[in-house]
Amino acid sequence: MEAQQVEIEAVLFDLDGVITDTAEQHYLGWQRLADEAGIPFDREANEALRGVSRVESLALILGDRPVPLEEREQMMARKNDYYVASLADMGPDDALPGARELVTGCRARGLKVAIGSSSRNARTVLAALGMLDAFDGIADGASVEHAKPAPDLFLHAASLIGTAAEACVVLEDARSGVDAALAAGMRAVGIGPEERVGHAHLRYDTVADVDIDEVLAPRR
Ligand code: BG6
Ligand code: MG
Repeated sequence: MEAQQVEIEAVLFDLDGVITDTAEQHYLGWQRLADEAGIPFDREANEALRGVSRVESLALILGDRPVPLEEREQMMARKNDYYVASLADMGPDDALPGARELVTGCRARGLKVAIGSSSRNARTVLAALGMLDAFDGIADGASVEHAKPAPDLFLHAASLIGTAAEACVVLEDARSGVDAALAAGMRAVGIGPEERVGHAHLRYDTVADVDIDEVLAPRR
């Protein structure tokens, strides 16, 4: 789905892996949990978890292992404890290079900016970065029932800031997030390697490489 001619009015930012490198801390939390449970897991397997909700991440790690719901809940809580503990030292310097400037630059152009993150910890992370007030709206892991790659989270973020889906552009580092943006009928900008986010309308290796004029330019 693509509405190329509509002028962009808002930029929706994924959080983990776009604004800050918490993608790595999520990975380390899952790796520790998997190691403790004796389940094979590594960085490569983690690629499938990027941007994926907590419950679905655990389901992917467990595969077809028959683990009762209660135990799954405990495993998710443990991983979250590891993750939250790893945020203790996080501060304003932990925004990815160029991320803060990109957000303020968008605002300076009169664009609305919002967060569309699958994480239930999104506000905690933004607070640690000193960026809670940097956005006009925050959609997080508790905002909608259907996680990325469903379009719901980005559609919710767009509704929070009163912007039509086709007037939004999404910045995403995850395959599932680019899928969600495309499913929402939004312009998608991938941050990361071609093999992960090459299906976005535009792609940059890092947030610091994003050329906002190119992102906003009318597309054919
Ligand atoms: C996404 C991350 O932003 O949030 C995933 O990319 C993570 O790695 C997901 O699993 C859910 O996060 P949380 O903090 O609710 O467990
Ligand atoms: Mg991400």
